[in-house]
Amino acid sequence: MKFIQLSDLHLVPNGKSLYGSDPAYKLQRAIESINKHQSDADFVVITGDLSDKGELSTYYDLKKMLNYITIPYYLIIGNHDNRGAFLEVFDNKFKCDTFVQFSQAKDDSLFLFLDTKIGDWHNGGFCKYRLEWLDKKLKAHKNSSVYLFMHHPPFTIYHKQMDSIGFEPKNKFWEIIEQYRNVKHIFFGHVHLPICGIYNETGYSSTRGTNHQIALLPKDDDTFFNSNEQSTYSIAHVTPHQVNCIIHEYLNEENAYSCSVPLKKEYES
Ligand SMILES: [Fe+2]
Repeated sequence: MKFIQLSDLHLVPNGKSLYGSDPAYKLQRAIESINKHQSDADFVVITGDLSDKGELSTYYDLKKMLNYITIPYYLIIGNHDNRGAFLEVFDNKFKCDTFVQFSQAKDDSLFLFLDTKIGDWHNGGFCKYRLEWLDKKLKAHKNSSVYLFMHHPPFTIYHKQMDSIGFEPKNKFWEIIEQYRNVKHIFFGHVHLPICGIYNETGYSSTRGTNHQIALLPKDDDTFFNSNEQSTYSIAHVTPHQVNCIIHEYLNEENAYSCSVPLKKEYES
């Protein structure tokens, strides 16, 4: 199984820019790259913050752009999104009750796409309904390998500003996960940084946003600062024994050049 993770598009109404760049252009370049180099992937997932301010027109624009992707795509929402506007455009495709939460099963694997948006807050979380939905899915597929996609990371990532708009309640979420122990990996967005690690026995990873990134400094300031780090997407290969993610700077791929370092044999001769 191979799939591509994109995140944090932050689309703005047509003709406008965000932090000095055009989010639609950065997404178009990602789609172009995926079609050209990743067309063997099973699907693309975009892990939230599809729109910067949740205008209806941004979701219509997104749908038009995604029509050009040659492989299936799945979408979840983030704190910047407007759930109602999103569902008006994408209708029932990604919906469960009133949430953007759904599942896909393939062979012995289950992919769960979670909605961590809470009200108009930048923090994320789960209500009782969504916790119960997760519990039921994990229980029904207790012999499967489960992979979660969610906008907010459900653990501390040791980044002061991003942790101040993190996920709660972490304890209730992990109580469910640890009951079944079938979640192998969590793919998340929100942080605009490439982060990887293991929480208890579950692996996790993220990718940068397509438009702008979050700076690491200054560490002790509550203010968010952006950085000029490159846009990326993550190329994930998932097998029963491995999860491998390559964080790819797709805007630079045309600058690839042949390497002139000699092979070991040539050193020896
Ligand atoms: Fe974001």
